[in-house]
Amino acid sequence: MKKFAVAIDGPSGAGKSSIAKALAKKLNIIYVDTGAIYRTVGLYVYRHNVDSKDEDSIIAMLSDISVSLDYVDGVQHIFLNGEDVSDLIRTETISRYASDVSAIPEVRAFLLNLQRDMAKENSVIMDGRDIGTVVLPDAEVKIFLTASAEVRARRRFKELTEKGETVTFDEVLAAIITRDRNDSSRATAPLKAADDAVILDNSDINASETLDRVIDIIRSKTAE
Ligand code: DC
Repeated sequence: MKKFAVAIDGPSGAGKSSIAKALAKKLNIIYVDTGAIYRTVGLYVYRHNVDSKDEDSIIAMLSDISVSLDYVDGVQHIFLNGEDVSDLIRTETISRYASDVSAIPEVRAFLLNLQRDMAKENSVIMDGRDIGTVVLPDAEVKIFLTASAEVRARRRFKELTEKGETVTFDEVLAAIITRDRNDSSRATAPLKAADDAVILDNSDINASETLDRVIDIIRSKTAE
């Protein structure tokens, strides 16, 4: 089959990464989790005690940051200056840092080629906020996966408490609403569906039904 790209965008907690991981396995292509890239920059900023909204300091730090990706048994690992930080970036604090640093145009420009290069050589399924609009505007398949904030908060709350993080549902919901607002209202590459994306709201369907719908969308788009 010819090389192709599947772009999945949408707000936090819509289930993009679970769907993308399952699909990558099924289609035997690479899954690129672009949120991890922003989280890695967020982690660097956090570790250096710089405020996540201090744009000038963050821009000045970019030349000290190297982000790279590697795949071990098909699973993405992300490296910050050579250190595997794949697990360290999955906290609520780093989620907030990632959302803030991702609003800075220089940060987005700094990370753009890394993302595009992944799709140059390989068929990919890439998830994020601006994949269909900015990173891979020519992707063969574009899906905007969304769900209500309450449903997404419920899923995220379950995930966090299973991991042992002590949070309340209200805190998780408030964090999701704030991140939605940040991600959608920023001037550069805001979270929005590409004009040619298929919008899939999975508030009322489960993960396996979502996967079936996504597979149907890919089949119909790649057959066109
Ligand atoms: O998908 P995630 O929750 O891991 O993403 C973390 C943050 O990174 C999210 O709040 C917005 C930002 N992000 C982005 O701006 N563009 C992307 N393509 C992916 C993530």
